[in-house]
Amino acid sequence: MLSDMDLLVSLCKRRGFIFQSSEIYGGMGSVWDYGPLGVELKNNVKQAWWRTYVYERSDIEGLDAAILMHPSTWVASGHVGSFADTLVDCKDCKKRFRLDRLQAKRCPECGGEVTEPRKFNLMFKVPIGAVEDFRNISYLRPETAQGIFVNFQNIITSMRRKVPFGIAQIGKAFRNEITTGNFIFRCREFEQMEIEYFVEPGTDEEWYKRWVEERFNWYIRLGIGKENLRLREHPKDELAHYAKACTDIEYKFPIGWSELEGIANRTDFDLKQHMNESGKDLAYFDDEKKAKYIPFVIEPSGGVDRTVLAFLVDAYREEPVRGEKRVYLALHKHLAPVKVAILPLLRNRDELVRLAKDIANTLRKRCKIMYDDTASIGRLYRRQDEIGTPYCVTVDVESLSDHKVTVRDRDTMEQKRVPVQELETYLLGQLL
Ligand code: GAP
Repeated sequence: MLSDMDLLVSLCKRRGFIFQSSEIYGGMGSVWDYGPLGVELKNNVKQAWWRTYVYERSDIEGLDAAILMHPSTWVASGHVGSFADTLVDCKDCKKRFRLDRLQAKRCPECGGEVTEPRKFNLMFKVPIGAVEDFRNISYLRPETAQGIFVNFQNIITSMRRKVPFGIAQIGKAFRNEITTGNFIFRCREFEQMEIEYFVEPGTDEEWYKRWVEERFNWYIRLGIGKENLRLREHPKDELAHYAKACTDIEYKFPIGWSELEGIANRTDFDLKQHMNESGKDLAYFDDEKKAKYIPFVIEPSGGVDRTVLAFLVDAYREEPVRGEKRVYLALHKHLAPVKVAILPLLRNRDELVRLAKDIANTLRKRCKIMYDDTASIGRLYRRQDEIGTPYCVTVDVESLSDHKVTVRDRDTMEQKRVPVQELETYLLGQLL
């Protein structure tokens, strides 16, 4: 596990995981681009989550709602009225800070006097349509959840669902964050993985407990060290306006214990608010009990970027090997951006290159591979270790006569000769 975030920021840039947005223009604060390996890792995280909840369970449907929503959505949800930070400006250096970050009511950067606190809404305004008058103002969504609430009836009806059931969504969210920095921990543009799980009132506390436990264990199943995770229940005065209870899953990031995901009991707040604002009846009719009610909602809400960061931090390893430092990412095989690297030992032996390329072309149809012949084998292994590739396949001169290749395991560094004929089956078996 890693204790210095700068090491990771540097590895991520050097190895094509994550770049600062618009870097050639000096960068865009708290906005990040995922490079060739970053997009693979991020997609793998999202797929692992989607597989667990939408495919492996029978009680959850998927959704991909639009980022832009009717402006009334954000009035109903409470975001127009109360999604705000309290800020002050420094009268000397003109920088802006969150009130809760100040000590002794002075500027934390230059010590200058600060203005009276003011509320600052975190949503990005978007003028919709050609005429920029106030009726056409909406917002980039600050959470994906509202797209689920407004589609509750559509999904119940089209999918013939009965409560309890859930709706899962992964998508972008935007917040004009004031406290920036800390790499991809807090971004202005980020992704969320959210489930709104609809339950009968009275059963909500039991479901809430189940979801806290389920989400905690999901991270562990994908390799996060249990000792680096903890639960923190919100005290009453910290609860969001919509929540009856909320537990954060916290991870021990290099910046200290911080929120990775929140699981909230949102009660019937959102559905009721949308009923009032839209005038539509969003109550559920329970056929068996012949009862009508507004379901309560349990919401596990995680950030994709924060989850990627936690997996990277947790996977980071340094160890001495033959007098040198070996750096590797012990990522779970399902998450590793590249699954297999094909490394020909010589690049000027036609037969050997042909065999290596044949192997690469066969495997590339099954998983993400990388072909690399641009350095000595020691360096090639080091490169693959640093990006967390679970298996390296080396094609050497002997391979031409014994029709076997060497498969090296990232974590143990053990090497094994495997017949070329059996390679695909062997590797796919390991990667499952
Ligand atoms: N729908 C509930 C909701 O949005 P939240 O605690 O504000 O709750 C949920 O956000 C998760 O989204 C957080 O636990 C975090 O992982 C992620 N998240 C929130 N703001 C973020 C930001 N500015 N940058 C990166 N991730 C963020």
